Amino acid sequence: MLLDEFLRGAKGAGVKTEKVALRDLNIKHCTSCSKCFKTGRCVIKDDMRALYPKLVKADILVVTSPVAFSGIFSRPKTMIDRCQALWARRHILGKDLRGGRRNMIGVFISTGGSNSKMTFRGSIDTMTTFFNTLQRARKYRLLFGSIDKKGDIKRLKGALMSAYKLGKRITG
Ligand SMILES: Cc1cc2nc3c(=O)[nH]c(=O)nc-3n(C[C@H](O)[C@H](O)[C@H](O)COP(=O)(O)O)c2cc1C
Repeated sequence: MLLDEFLRGAKGAGVKTEKVALRDLNIKHCTSCSKCFKTGRCVIKDDMRALYPKLVKADILVVTSPVAFSGIFSRPKTMIDRCQALWARRHILGKDLRGGRRNMIGVFISTGGSNSKMTFRGSIDTMTTFFNTLQRARKYRLLFGSIDKKGDIKRLKGALMSAYKLGKRITG
């Protein structure tokens, strides 16, 4: 729901958007084979092949995940681990992923059942490392604790509006 509000805000600003549901994709786990260290490419043939260029080229990349065991959920984490190939491209092969693009943005949207200063700590660390690897220096976060039951986010005053406003503001 938060992502849809973000996208609604972005569309209002006239931006082309694409929503990808990782649950619809076949993404296998990184096996740490290290073959990408030589080529900057992953040898696994699955839906990551089509996703890599989107992750690299999108001016704004938004990743959403609830908190699971103090980190992000396994599905987005599996996708992120496969970006070891992009890490290798940059840090072993010395390539710039940006291809002339500047001010690339990473947005992380999350909810958690608990609400303490620890709730999002693990997820923030993962997402910061991920966006840094993708050379997304500008980062934004929308994090909401005490969200556990269906509809909680609607009851949290201003939450959905803040996602809409962020989508509008950073694309406008
Ligand atoms: C497997 C699992 C692990 C979870 N671990 C945590 C946790 O470590 N900390 C926390 O605050 N909430 C945790 N939660 C609660 C979810 O983060 C929370 O319900 C979230 O808002 C669900 O979002 P959704 O309705 O979009 O799935 C966990 C939920 C599940 C299913």
